[in-house]
Amino acid sequence: MVGTFMNLTFPQILDGQRIGEEMLVALRDKAESFLVRTGRKPKLALLRIGENPASALYMRRKCAVAEKIGIECTASVFPIGTPLESVEEKISQWNNSPSVDAIMVQAPLPSAEYQRSVFNAIDPKKDVDGFHPVNVGKLACEDSSGFVPCTPKGILRLLHAHDIPLAGRHVVIIGRSSIVGRPLGLLLQSRTVNATVTICHSRSQNLASITRAADILVVAAGRAKLVTADMVKNGIVVVDVGQNRDESGLLCGDVDFRSVAPRCMYITPVPGGVGPMTVAMLMENVIQACEHE
Ligand code: GUN
Repeated sequence: MVGTFMNLTFPQILDGQRIGEEMLVALRDKAESFLVRTGRKPKLALLRIGENPASALYMRRKCAVAEKIGIECTASVFPIGTPLESVEEKISQWNNSPSVDAIMVQAPLPSAEYQRSVFNAIDPKKDVDGFHPVNVGKLACEDSSGFVPCTPKGILRLLHAHDIPLAGRHVVIIGRSSIVGRPLGLLLQSRTVNATVTICHSRSQNLASITRAADILVVAAGRAKLVTADMVKNGIVVVDVGQNRDESGLLCGDVDFRSVAPRCMYITPVPGGVGPMTVAMLMENVIQACEHE
């Protein structure tokens, strides 16, 4: 698995589990200070529609981590087919509740329009996922007072934690979702990061010729083992956002780790790479939401 390139030994693992846990220690202190200051814990409200097992697992994990660091959770699960108005009513209750600091609705929702309406219903000051148009707009115009979506924020933190330079480097992102690819592109091309960004998607032609030009490749396509060794240059940094199941039901990323890792300077594992960073950044955003108190 380990290769050499210009006298360097690689790959090195981008250990999101370790970095995420270090961040949680600092966040636990902030949650404790909030409790001392206000007499109550920070509170995160989570909502899910339907029984998608992956969404249910992610939500349980987010609640468990929150409670471990002193953030209270309340969760609502609605069945598929719930009218939009009922979900909006629940969100409106949370928007108006002084004891709810933060709201997160687990994606995906039954349709794109439904999802858009639900995200739009969340008070932007409690929108810890950063999916409300006000927060999307703030990210687009580099106004740092908004919430930045958790996965892109976590990827940037993970790269910074390993001192991987980004200014002037070519980052190729596969995937243009509003949860990962699009906001990550905005963050990376901002005047504080200064990367050169290419976003590819399912209609991109000659994908391999684009990815081969990448210094850093972020893959958020939702397709198991889409990226193979022939698609990357030696010494690349690879960030794998994928959470798929392979033929034998094992968790695997969008990158064929076995073949790609020997070419990489750094690579994220799946699991243990981006996932724990996303959860840590959600907790950071909850603490940020408490600053409105
Ligand atoms: N589904 C996949 N990733 C995310 C995320 O970061 N936030 C929410 N709310 N749903 C998701």
